[in-house]
Amino acid sequence: VTQSLQILLVDDDAIFRKALSRALARRGHRVETAASPEQALRTTDLSTFDAAILDLKMPGMDGIDLLKEFRTREPDLPVVLLTGHGTIPSAISAIQAGAYQYLLKPCEVDEVEITLRNAVRGRALALENRSLREVAQRASPYQGIVGQSAAILKVIDLIEHTKESSKPALIQGESGTGKELVARALHWGSQRRDRPFVTVNCAGLKPELLENELFGHVEGAFTGASRSKGGLFEIADGGTLFIDEVADMNLTVQASLLRVVETCVFRPLGSTREKKVDVRIITAANRNLHDEVLAQRFRQDLLYRLEVIHIVVPPLRERLEDIPLLVDAFLNSSVDAKRKSITVSHEALKPLMDYSWPGNVRELFHVLERAVLLSGGGPLHGSELLGVLRPAFAPLAPGSLPLGKVATLHESEKVHIARMLKEENGNVSRVSEILGIDRRTLQRKMKRYGLR
Ligand SMILES: Nc1ncnc2c1ncn2[C@@H]1O[C@H](COP(=O)(O)OP(=O)(O)OP(=O)(O)O)[C@@H](O)[C@H]1O
Ligand SMILES: [Mg+2]
Repeated sequence: VTQSLQILLVDDDAIFRKALSRALARRGHRVETAASPEQALRTTDLSTFDAAILDLKMPGMDGIDLLKEFRTREPDLPVVLLTGHGTIPSAISAIQAGAYQYLLKPCEVDEVEITLRNAVRGRALALENRSLREVAQRASPYQGIVGQSAAILKVIDLIEHTKESSKPALIQGESGTGKELVARALHWGSQRRDRPFVTVNCAGLKPELLENELFGHVEGAFTGASRSKGGLFEIADGGTLFIDEVADMNLTVQASLLRVVETCVFRPLGSTREKKVDVRIITAANRNLHDEVLAQRFRQDLLYRLEVIHIVVPPLRERLEDIPLLVDAFLNSSVDAKRKSITVSHEALKPLMDYSWPGNVRELFHVLERAVLLSGGGPLHGSELLGVLRPAFAPLAPGSLPLGKVATLHESEKVHIARMLKEENGNVSRVSEILGIDRRTLQRKMKRYGLR
């Protein structure tokens, strides 16, 4: 099927104008004509045309002036110029002014039609390339951080401004918001990028063990210390040490950490000699450390030192507009999604954007991963995503609690946790990840509710 074009023809020669417009109309195109540039500019809305044909030589404003005027009003409209033998030099300057092509009069209608079609196709390709490029640019992540919401751009801006500093940075945000991603971006964007990025997670490490990890020990420092061992501070020398879940660090270790932060000096366990290091310290916490200070679980002086640069990563529910980009990024990075040619339809994004995402980006990726796993291929629909979301989305489906009984928050929490455990075959780490709480909190709740 050949496409019918909407064409604007401007020529002061009445006979030629009528003949060409009739010939083009016979081939199924819709042609509007104007007898002068002035008339063309007065009466026509350029955006409705696929292409324009302008006579180069007209009284008053000539074809080139009209072309320039068209370029400012509708830059993407392809323009073909018609010219007699006497005016070829100015036809060349017309091309330079942005005409698609010029044709010599008298011309065959075939030639005019082919030229118009090529011009229109060329424009379509140019527009497509441009929009692809725009999408690619818009979506191109900053150091792996996907998003274009004002909230995430603010985070990226802060990273940009502080990445070269060696001052401590504290990254706060709920679980799964991307704190570690931010820490890595700070490191990779800095002069330290060729030096190590070392991470240590304070959660679940006994104080002695954490201290040993951080500072190392000398031979004979304690029973079983048959050899000396360098700590993470030494390994990270010249680079970055990322201390995750710093709220879980106990007060003794906090005191040692404060000392390194203040003096860049530390002493391995059992050693009499101090070591000096150049390490950028980045800490992360999903609890509010100021509350921890009030509860006397965290040293205020240490907090002041750690939060010289303070980056707060907002929860996903405060930047729902990032979800389409995150979905896209996930599908592009998922081998399974590629193999099954999985896409997410526009309509399917709706349930994702109506949900509050307590587990943030990690939870979103988890939902997508499951949906991809369960899908046979092709586009994912809203119902399929909702199917995966449901356990988290609707913890209290009708009938899940005894009728006539008022559900307290605890009761609904219990039902919800029980359901998730069942769903995930009792995998506690998985469930804690989905629920956006840490493992130990989940285990505490399971114990309280008698769940196993
Ligand atoms: N803006 C983002 N763009 C792309 N991926 C993201 C983004 N934010 C988070 N992620 C992804 O989500 C997952 C969780 O991110 P990350 O581990 O950095 O979170 P976190 O804040 O450190 O969580 P936790 O407090 O539980 O340790 C990772 O797979 C990460 O790559
Ligand atoms: Mg983390």
